[in-house]
Amino acid sequence: MAIQIKTLDQLKLMRRAGLVVAESLDLMKAAIKPGVTRNDLNQIAIENLAKNKAKSNFLNYHGYPAVVCASVNNEIVHGIPDDAPLKDGDIISIDFGAIIEGWHGDSAFSLGVGTVDPADQKLMDVCEESMWRGIAAGKVGGHLTDISEAIESYINSQGKYGILREYGGHGIGTEMHQEPHVLNFGKAGMGPELKVGMALAIEPMITRGTHKTVTLEDEWTVVSEDGSRGAHFEHSFAFLPDGKPFVLTALDGGKAKLAEFGVEISSLLA
Ligand code: MF3
Ligand code: CO
Repeated sequence: MAIQIKTLDQLKLMRRAGLVVAESLDLMKAAIKPGVTRNDLNQIAIENLAKNKAKSNFLNYHGYPAVVCASVNNEIVHGIPDDAPLKDGDIISIDFGAIIEGWHGDSAFSLGVGTVDPADQKLMDVCEESMWRGIAAGKVGGHLTDISEAIESYINSQGKYGILREYGGHGIGTEMHQEPHVLNFGKAGMGPELKVGMALAIEPMITRGTHKTVTLEDEWTVVSEDGSRGAHFEHSFAFLPDGKPFVLTALDGGKAKLAEFGVEISSLLA
């Protein structure tokens, strides 16, 4: 299968999906505090999907039972919401997606609950910054692994973190997961050429220890093999017909953050 190329009109629908995702994640972020449960956060997401007449791409995905993934501490991704209250000092990663008129959005963030250990905060900050550097490194006419190298080299410059190997980013469009798979490590200049109309979800996943993971008996929750804490950030972005990028799941389209790297976002979706 070739990489799906989207028209401007299709990217406009993906932007609508992306905005529902961004707003829902912001609502969940605002609710995160000690005592709140992951099911509470899942419920916020369910209600915001309904309010926006959007569908969930997570619910029933290979049997997944919720609309968000919520992963706490040593859980890195695909944690399943439950009724256990979050505790002061936990860190939580929320991954969420939405579908509008058949077009998908997918985004994730990590956040400390209450008082955060500075080393956990740095873990999350490094993960988020690596995502932005990866997005900023993606250029029409460049290659897919330009993104991968930017992510890996930044993480490695910041300390000893484990970068997950079995999981990565992906193309996104009329399915949540499309080609190409986007590695969070590797050498620049390889893989498919990046083109106008491509949309990619960029999602580094890192730990304070090993890159090795174990999947729990629930068949979803991915934990670090050594029990170290993990972080996960994700945005979906696209290359617009003017050759410029636009972050579909960021409220400002990625304008402020990409400007730090001298990258101007497209004005075609404003
Ligand atoms: N959104 C995840 C990703 O970033 C996948 C979620 S798996 C699901 O690719 F089952 F929860 F949907
Ligand atoms: Co994703």
